[in-house]
Parts: sequence; C-alpha cells; structure tokens
Amino acid sequence: MTSRTAADSKWWQEAVIYQIYPRSFFDSNGDGEGDLPGITQKLQYVADLGVDAIWLSPFYTSPNKDGGYDVANPRDVDPRFGNLADAKLMINKAHDLGLKVLVDIVPNHFSSEHEWFKAALIAGPGSKERARFHFYDAKVDGTPPNNWISLFGGPAWTQVADGQYYLHLFDSSQPDLNWENPEVDADFKETISFWVKMGADGFRIDVAHGLAKENILTDHHDPKGLSDALRIDAEMEISKRESLLASVPYFDRAGVHEIYRSWRKHFDSFEKPIMAVAEAWVHPPINGVAYVRPDELHQIFNFDLLIAPFEAKTLFRLINNTIDMLKGVDAYPTWAISNHDSPRVASRLGAEESRAMALFLFGLPGSCYIYNGQELGLPDAELADRDRQDPVFLRTNGEAKGRDGARVPMPWSGEETPFGFSAGKPWLPLPTNWNELTVDKQTLNSESSLALYKSALSLRSKFFSGTSDLSWDISRIEQGVLGFSRSGIQIYLNSGDKSVKLAASTIILSSSGSLTCENGELELMPKRAVWFVK
Ligand code: NOJ
Repeated sequence: MTSRTAADSKWWQEAVIYQIYPRSFFDSNGDGEGDLPGITQKLQYVADLGVDAIWLSPFYTSPNKDGGYDVANPRDVDPRFGNLADAKLMINKAHDLGLKVLVDIVPNHFSSEHEWFKAALIAGPGSKERARFHFYDAKVDGTPPNNWISLFGGPAWTQVADGQYYLHLFDSSQPDLNWENPEVDADFKETISFWVKMGADGFRIDVAHGLAKENILTDHHDPKGLSDALRIDAEMEISKRESLLASVPYFDRAGVHEIYRSWRKHFDSFEKPIMAVAEAWVHPPINGVAYVRPDELHQIFNFDLLIAPFEAKTLFRLINNTIDMLKGVDAYPTWAISNHDSPRVASRLGAEESRAMALFLFGLPGSCYIYNGQELGLPDAELADRDRQDPVFLRTNGEAKGRDGARVPMPWSGEETPFGFSAGKPWLPLPTNWNELTVDKQTLNSESSLALYKSALSLRSKFFSGTSDLSWDISRIEQGVLGFSRSGIQIYLNSGDKSVKLAASTIILSSSGSLTCENGELELMPKRAVWFVK
C-alpha cells in the first residue's frame, strides 16, 4: 500500500465516511421530516465525531415512493428537504469543518414522475422518448416480455395504457433507464458536473452493477429462486444461491464497466479529485475487483460484514479475502456494518458485539462507513405495520417487513419521544424508551457508544495517519479470538465464550467494554475488542 503522504490527493483511501439519511437526521422546520438546514445545524456534531466525510442519501426532487431513490429531478432539491441554496450552504459548512461531501447518484432508474418518463408515456411505442427506458410489447398471450421479479417483490414489468410494458427492477414508480441509449449517459454526466459545481467531492453510485441488462426478452429458468437468492433475509442453501446468483441477467454484466471507464474520464476532468464508490452486490465477490480497476471507480462497498456473524473465523476469512483481492488492483477496502437498507448492527449482532465489531474494524486498513445512529448504538425500532412506508413492505403485502426499522429518526435530546428530532410529528415514530440513547445523554457518559466511537476515531487518525499493512494473529482463532497488529498497535476481538489472557505489560488504548488488566496483564472477555500496545 502507498503511504498517506504520497496519496494525499486520494483522501478517501483511509477515510471514515458518515452516512446521513436526510429524512431522519434533524428536522429544522417542524414538519416531521429531516431536511438540509437541519443537517447544516448538526454538522458540528458530525465533525466532532472525528470523521473525514459525509455521504448523503438522496435529497433530490422525488415523490418519495422509495425514500428518494426514485428521483424525479436529479439536479434539484425536493421541497421537503429545502432548496438548492440550502444544499450549497450545507456543502460549504461541511467544507468549513474539514468534511468532504459525497452525494448519491441513482443511474439505474428514474422516478415515473421524471419528465422523461412522462414524455415517454405520451409519445407512444417506437418513439425516441420510450427508447430512454426499457419499453417492450407484451408477449403474444398478453403477459410481460419476460418473467423477471422485481427486487421489491411482484413482477418487474408494468403495463401502460397502449399495451406496452416497461421494466422496473425495483418499484413500479422506478422505471429502469436504457444505458444503451447515449442520451442517458450524457444526462448523468451533466448531473455529475452539476453536483461537482455545487461543491460535491464524490458520489455514491446506487445499484452500480445494474445498468447493463442482458437477454431482456428471455425468461429466467427460476425467477422466484433468483428473487429469493438476491434477498439477504431469505434463507437458501449456499450452493443453490451461488448458482442462481451467477445467472442474474441484469446484474454485473460486462457492459457496466464500459460505463464506469467513461465516467472515470469525466471524474478526472475536474480540477479537484472526485471519487466514486459503487454500491454493487456482485457474486462471486472477486467480480467486485473489476469495478475498482485504475481506470474505473475508486471504491466498492464490501457488504460481507453487513451479514457476517460475530464469529472470529468467518470474520478473518472475509476480511482477509477482501484485503487480498484488492491488492491486485491497488485499491483500498471499505468496511460497513450498518446502512439504511439493512437491520441495524446493534439489533443484528447485539449491543456489546456491535461495539466490539466497530472498534475492531476501525483498526483495519481502508475506509470505514458509519450509518447515522450507529455511533449511538441504536437498535432497529419496532414499528406497527400501519407506520411502515417501505415499498418492500407494500409490494410483498407485508411478507417482508422492509427497511423502515433502521430508518427511524435520530434521538438528539430530552426525555420524551421524539427526543429533539422534530417539533412536529416525526415521519416514523421514535420508540419511547430511547431516552438513554440520545446524543445529549451519551455525550455526558464516558462509557457510552458515542464516547467509544469518538475515542476510537481519534486514535485511528493519530496512529494510522500513514497507511500500513496489518499482520494477523490467528493463533487463538479456535477459541474465537482474532487479532492483528498494525503500526505497532495490537487489536483483538473475542467472539468466543471464555476470557483469554492476551499479553503482559500492556497499555490499553481503547476497549469496547470493561476489561481485566492486572499488573499490565490483559484479559479479554467475550464480546469485547481492545486496542493496546505492548
Ligand atoms: C439501493 C438503495 O440503497 C436502496 O435504498 C434503494 O431502495 C435501491 N437501491 C433502489 O434504488
């Protein structure tokens, strides 16, 4: 790996990036939804965490059928979040505080409210307006052009009044764009330039592996199996899942790489370095390496840890594979244990385990993503079905509960819900028992999750300011203990069920919970992680 000095212009390589879900961050005007001025007001809090950058989920004009990932105008701000001037103020304030800003870009689909789609409906079959999307005639029996199932459940096709169908891998309000049409690429480059001009330092690319489709007029041999294989919450035998995932006709097709090679030239045409991170779930994982070749994107999300158990052997295998795979392209790994699409890590693994995981990961080489509220140890909120808004819930008739539980607004202060998030009624209710989890409470408590994140991030920037490789200690992996050393710091995690003696004469730098350390002899209890020096 290169040294940080040589890589100064590549700020993202070892960056800690904080994901803000705008609707749930802070509501400045009492309408129950977070907004851009709310983010601006709370940026000092974000900077104080010790992160390097923020990534904002979409805040563009949108009917909000899929949390803003249904974009009706990618070059404007939805009124629920403010306006373009608010976006500019927010970006400027972030820069003043030393934070880089990534914005989301959603190239797989537009909203059906986008002017292109409205024009396509009016223009009719065979028109250049329809050629921007995937419109096809019905099969002779009147059924959709193929049997694909939407990732949100139900058919991936919706019929329009004149009988044609359009493809939507997600909700019917999210028509897929036709990337074989050069107009589409030109429009996205314009959007990229627009946000760079507004001050953005990079982009998170939504469904980055989905833009090229193959065999669009051919039925899949097992559409239901494929749809289940793609859902992380559906159980399936590993070999079956792997063989199905190898046959997805709409993900990770060779054509996507041509698009990113051309985007890379566009990114490199700006005066300041512009980075992009791909949201690409690809199978097998080695396929992900292609997205970060030197002439493509800068990072790809590694989703392994979003679903990995708290178990040393598995963690070692996944982390080590990722580091090894990327050596071939000299790109840096990314680590994430929560985001707006998955169950919160504190619920998935448990409160103690999630703290240990975070502390352990902050020691790894590469870039760490933190999802807002993760630093507070927030669990998923229990929601009544009537409150749920996720199209996943709606399109599966409630069979899948969807992602709302992880999107409940941030608790900032006070003893009663909505804990300072809003002066109005929040768009999703905050649980009444989050009073000990608020930012205010945790700021005053040196044992809190927030305090742990802050101290770990400060140590991370102090000790790992120059990038360096790690060396593993797997000598006690059978007991559930995984460790590594990096830049002279020893970092260990105990996923087993017994305490282990780690070393004599140690100085502890940080630990995810209480430890026994007598005369410098350190004992690591189960569900704990620690950073120390010998
Ligand atoms: C991935 C986004 O993270 C998710 O929230 C969204 O529903 C889908 N892409 C579709 O845009």
